[in-house]
Amino acid sequence: MPIVFNAERRAWALQSGGMTYGLAVDQAGRLRHSYFGSLLPRLEDLPRTSDPYLPLRDRFFPWEPPEGPTERYEYPPWGGMYYHEPCLKATFEDGVRDVRLIYETYSTKGDERIPELVVTVRDPHYPLRVHLHYRLFEELDLLERYAVIENAGRAPITLEQVLSAVWHLPSKHDYRLTHLAGRFAAETQVCREPVSVGKKVLESRRGNTSHHANPFFAVDPGNATEEGGTVWFGALAWSGNWKIVLEHDVWGVLQVSGGVNDFDFAWHLAGGESFETPTFVGGYTQEGFGGASRSLHRYARDHVLPREGSRPVLYNSWEATYFDINEEVQGELAEKAASLGVELFVVDDGWFGERNDDQRGLGDWWVNREKFPRGLGPLIERVHSLGMSFGLWVEPEMVNPDSDLYREHSDWVYHFPNRPRTESRNQLVLNLAMQEVQEHLFTVLDGLLVENDISFIKWDMNRPFSEPGWPQAPKERQRELWVRHVRGIYDILSRLRKKHPEVAFESCSSGGGRVDLGILRYTDQAWTSDNTDPFDRLRIQEGFSFVYPARTMMCWVADPGLWAKNRTAPLSYRFHSAMMGALGIGSDLLRWSAEEMQEAGRLVEQYKQIRDVVQEGDQYRLLSPREGETTAIQYVSRDRSRSVIFVFRNPHQFLDPAPSVYPKGLGERSLYRITGVDEPRSGGALMGHGIEIPLEGDLTSTIIELSETQRE
Ligand code: DGJ
Repeated sequence: MPIVFNAERRAWALQSGGMTYGLAVDQAGRLRHSYFGSLLPRLEDLPRTSDPYLPLRDRFFPWEPPEGPTERYEYPPWGGMYYHEPCLKATFEDGVRDVRLIYETYSTKGDERIPELVVTVRDPHYPLRVHLHYRLFEELDLLERYAVIENAGRAPITLEQVLSAVWHLPSKHDYRLTHLAGRFAAETQVCREPVSVGKKVLESRRGNTSHHANPFFAVDPGNATEEGGTVWFGALAWSGNWKIVLEHDVWGVLQVSGGVNDFDFAWHLAGGESFETPTFVGGYTQEGFGGASRSLHRYARDHVLPREGSRPVLYNSWEATYFDINEEVQGELAEKAASLGVELFVVDDGWFGERNDDQRGLGDWWVNREKFPRGLGPLIERVHSLGMSFGLWVEPEMVNPDSDLYREHSDWVYHFPNRPRTESRNQLVLNLAMQEVQEHLFTVLDGLLVENDISFIKWDMNRPFSEPGWPQAPKERQRELWVRHVRGIYDILSRLRKKHPEVAFESCSSGGGRVDLGILRYTDQAWTSDNTDPFDRLRIQEGFSFVYPARTMMCWVADPGLWAKNRTAPLSYRFHSAMMGALGIGSDLLRWSAEEMQEAGRLVEQYKQIRDVVQEGDQYRLLSPREGETTAIQYVSRDRSRSVIFVFRNPHQFLDPAPSVYPKGLGERSLYRITGVDEPRSGGALMGHGIEIPLEGDLTSTIIELSETQRE
């Protein structure tokens, strides 16, 4: 049984293939965490929830909380002597700011595949209830958690902090944190550091997920490797202001709390209303960081993404033409793209309004008749006649002050009276907390999809929030905009998907500023980074792969020198780097030579042969671009019958030969043939002895394909 309840101990155990998660009600009726770690076969093995320091408290530290200094609450409210990071902080209408939560009831739901436990706790005096949801993914050793705060009375309650969950780790002092930090053109950089006493806050206050941090953490006892060792990890499904707080104290407590950022947040919960937090998925593995990522990848593919199946090869015109687009040139690019085997042709920024540069036009989503005198129809037809589907760029949440939309509705942007409206990339953020703005955007986007045969929308967002004012709303509701904006995007996307189920969406925010498990419920892929340099990309993509599967990682082949001056990687290297995710091409194809076109055509064809392994398989980071001159990333089909290894020789010195590459995840006794090599070898031999890599010179690369010839 995956969810077990012991009535006598009032304890629950959630059991997956390799993990147990335990919680229990204590004598005072509070819900306490008891265990998060390797599988405990019997509920009786769950540790008791009491604090080991409690027996000493009265004698030595009576000023610590009565339940002991290392109390581990499942969903701690701020109240009484609670000093760690709370999940819930609220003010009742009479001004009381002390919240207590005691156990009320529980239920189980869900199905065999994803069983769910819901535990309800309530305030003993005020009509406030919290429903704690636990959805268990047994095969993945993952647990989804979220909370629903219910105001069961009439008087409003002000919520000031409502996190999704807190994860408690066993008491220890030498933990290590892995997280993803970055900036524009350098997103998702892997950072690893000791967890020291104090608080470490990973967060966004920018309105989107942000380039600067990604809502993910992994904690290990300091000795986990890519392929082995214990790792606790988690990722938040939220695309707005978020925070993950690691709190470690000298008692040995390590708790990781996360959810919507409480910074500048307040929610007016009227009587009868509920507030649902985003999901915080957490997991446990003994298979190192690679094991954690593979669990998250399968989770995203099987349970998060809105659609099954591999992503098509795409061409995007942005880096070729920027704003200088018109029907003719786009048509010529489409001809070239089609001849390479591209399946989806995407027109980027510049097709609408007076959008000749980034100074104007955002908000005016009508086709620019100077660039497309006959509308988009003829180009779309041409693209279709070339055997490709058609995609279009939009940036719905934004407006340039120089636009018809802003001239008509200057009060539709976030702003404070008596304060400037700070422009960034010459644009302002539309107030999606306002229902009429949401309605307007839905109508505009729906209209585009109804009038044009569009299969793909790239949804961009090119600036963070500033002056987050919503003066039209009652004061007590104004700070809700952070959450309402994100919900508004989710809502528009889900309505569009419902009405136009054939249309796929890409999440973009000046590159990878909005990549998270929240937006990936509504979008099929994400733009990883504007930095398309294939060598820089190895590190950005490595970090991306800690959480998100290859299928969602959009990668373009770009022209050399665009990002890293004087770095001229061969076409094959540029392709190989981009072929590790969902392949796209962003180059100016009108400048490519016949030889380049031919080689590119062959590489697109090769990608199509292996894309199911890349996009649907398990990924192993064999050699990290952070650690040496050679990078190797492997993908293995779920049935282990096929595998592809991408190997890159990066700038190196002293004539050093490339190291051998040791594949993973193959059947030990199965025989595999390496493409181009006659003699098959057992999976065990390949994994044990490795494969020699004959790569010489900087920025060289190769793909090794393995296919099973005999099953073990
Ligand atoms: C930022 C995106 O990341 C780019 O790919 C491109 O779409 C530009 N915006 C267009 O303005």
